[in-house]
Amino acid sequence: MENGSQSHRVSASDDVEVSTYLEIAKELHGEQPMVEPKLLPPGERETIVVIDFGSQYSLLIARRIRECRVYCELVSYDTPWEKIASLNPKGFVLSGGPASVYQSGAPLAPTYIYESHLPVMGICYGMQVIAYQLGGQVAPAEKQEYGHAILHISVEDCPLFGGLPASLPVWMSHGDQIIEMPPGFRALAYTENSPVAVIGNDDGILGLQFHPEVAHTPHGKQIFENFLYQVCGCQGNWTPSRFVADSIDKIKQQVGKGKVICALSGGVDSAVTASLVHRAIGDNLTCFFINNGLLRREEPERVLNTFQRNLKMNIVYADASERFLGRLRGVTDPEKKRRLVGREFIRVFEEAAAKLGKVDFLAQGTLYPDVIESSSAGETKASAKIKSHHNVGGLPTKMKFSLIEPLRYLFKDEVREVGLALGLPEDMVWRQPFPGPGLSIRIIGDVNKERLEILRAADWIVMNEIKKAKLYGQLWQSFAVLTDVRSVGVMGDYRTYGYLIAIRAINSNDAMTADWARLPYELLDTISDRIVNEVPNVNRVVYDITSKPPATIEWE
Ligand code: XMP
Repeated sequence: MENGSQSHRVSASDDVEVSTYLEIAKELHGEQPMVEPKLLPPGERETIVVIDFGSQYSLLIARRIRECRVYCELVSYDTPWEKIASLNPKGFVLSGGPASVYQSGAPLAPTYIYESHLPVMGICYGMQVIAYQLGGQVAPAEKQEYGHAILHISVEDCPLFGGLPASLPVWMSHGDQIIEMPPGFRALAYTENSPVAVIGNDDGILGLQFHPEVAHTPHGKQIFENFLYQVCGCQGNWTPSRFVADSIDKIKQQVGKGKVICALSGGVDSAVTASLVHRAIGDNLTCFFINNGLLRREEPERVLNTFQRNLKMNIVYADASERFLGRLRGVTDPEKKRRLVGREFIRVFEEAAAKLGKVDFLAQGTLYPDVIESSSAGETKASAKIKSHHNVGGLPTKMKFSLIEPLRYLFKDEVREVGLALGLPEDMVWRQPFPGPGLSIRIIGDVNKERLEILRAADWIVMNEIKKAKLYGQLWQSFAVLTDVRSVGVMGDYRTYGYLIAIRAINSNDAMTADWARLPYELLDTISDRIVNEVPNVNRVVYDITSKPPATIEWE
């Protein structure tokens, strides 16, 4: 292997053979234009490009790299070189994927990756792609390998293994294996069922049969760090304060003396977006906070207090509760509720913005998973549809603004770190997500003032008790749902006929999947007891023990 501190490929005799295979690959998959990557000035942002072959873990790879304080972007395998060149990559990671390289039409790596002379690390399918494209052979394994395995390292000089024990647990998930090594490569590690579990050549091209990105590979972070720091020569300078400084410069340049508007929702994404823009351009930013009457108890006061008084931003507050409730009267269909709330939001926002005169930019808190979801290789029409409703309360499509999306390349946990670096209050930074259509989709059936008050009171108790138990920050979300079920109870000597409240508390990393939280019985008992005693018209409480999938997090 190459000396770990060197970041660029050194020409070796095998390059002659590699180039032959590249020629074949090019012919098969169309010529990819190639320009020599520019060398980065010292201190410039370091970028790793993750090539997505559609693995369920691709996003996780990107997160792991970011956790090592190295910026990365996830791009589809057919992304043209011009787009990659503008990122000035320091190295490539090839993701896993569901295909088999020997199937016709299987996605392959663009040849510019090998021609760039930059380090490459292929994971699972990504490793098989490297082997196949560079002249090795891949075939179905005798038996599929799925689950835990012990990796035995068989060389001493590979920088990828720095600081690792000689044998370590890893997570496997593959049906194919390398049966003939590409020229210039050697096997660097093995498992019981995979004689070739890690491959590498002297030019910084590496392949791992296992998945270092999943939690089941406990040394995975070290492996990423080794690749990034030792093989690619990254320094790990992607920090929240650096992001803040870069973003402020960028926003200043983009906006100049222009006027910017931003809709605050009370959540962390719009709060961080607005704070960044405010730091960059001060009073040329105007934020709108629209009270749709579907917020939690004390929410409007809290948001106004933070932004107007503490952060001294220009805030336009519009109390449009009556308008929203008027629209929702008699509506029980969940999708219709979402559409109505979304459309009404746009109307109110447009009216409020029109009063400001000329506005040039709209700042939005779009996050990286939203961007990836609408562009990634593995995207299916079905999943696109499932997520489309999440943009309710977002961009007014008719309005002619340029967009400012400073969080476009961040994950939620990074947004929180940036929020802390900006000095936003902790309770805002650690706020659990709240859906755009608000409490309207947590009331099953008709939404009216009386039912909203019942839900607010129950929700308040849930939130207080979860916070008291110091679980608020650990849970992805915890809330109450007002169902349309009524049931019989008894209070004192009286028979009651009251509403059923459901409690939902879940753990999740990204809201795409979620597990119901195993809340302590004592806590559930206190919550239930308080709700039936303190909230009028509620006489029964249930706990939702369904995960996502098959259930969604919200009830509607
Ligand atoms: P589901 O219910 O689809 O929710 O499992 C996943 C995550 O998204 C939030 N959610 C929304 N957020 N507008 C939003 O801004 C919406 O219309 C919306 N619907 C659901 C939900 O709270 C959870 O965090």
